[in-house]
Amino acid sequence: MASNTNKYTLLMRILHWLIALLILGMIAVGWYMAGLPDEDPTKYDIYPVHKSIGISLLALIVLRLLVRFFSPIPKLPSELAGWEKILTKTTHFLLYLLMLLVPISGYLMSDFAGFPVEWFGIEVPGFVPDNMDNSEKALSAHGILPYILLGLVVLHVLGSLKHRFIDKDKNTDVLSRIL
Ligand code: HEM
Repeated sequence: MASNTNKYTLLMRILHWLIALLILGMIAVGWYMAGLPDEDPTKYDIYPVHKSIGISLLALIVLRLLVRFFSPIPKLPSELAGWEKILTKTTHFLLYLLMLLVPISGYLMSDFAGFPVEWFGIEVPGFVPDNMDNSEKALSAHGILPYILLGLVVLHVLGSLKHRFIDKDKNTDVLSRIL
């Protein structure tokens, strides 16, 4: 809901920073655990924690989309150039899409392989029949999508810093709206 407000609501701001921190942590942990040799027992101690936090993140991202739909959203500054508005909106759309696809691909990889997925010890119901081909497709997706998400996060951060520090005379600072 675009509105004349000049700041995101407190709940949107909390969800933004909480999800950002968890995603960056999950990418680091995922990269670390996937690189451990299969015979290293730590690898399989980290998996359930990664899965549990990943499922929590999926729930938080769905909550964030619902909250966003019903919250007043500040409009982009009118001083932004046309290409900047298009780039900003496309990046935001892709960030939301990837934030959903990354945990869903992780979940499907385990579910298609017939591995139980637990959320901090509580079994999460499976939805799909066992199928190793599909599990491998989900594994390939989950091996790439988190790094595309990371690239988008870098672009997103660079954009907000450009408006804060390089274009500071143009009244296009958007970082203050989410702090
Ligand atoms: C936003 C949430 C998530 C992020 C950012 C994330 C990120 C990652 C990353 C970066 C890797 C390493 C990929 C590689 O270099 O090969 C990885 C691996 C893995 N993830 Fe996730 N993940 C998320 C959610 C999930 C969920 C929900 C599950 C399962 C329920 C899951 C299960 C796994 C497993 C089993 C691996 C290891 C795959 C292998 O052994 O090669 N992830 N994750």
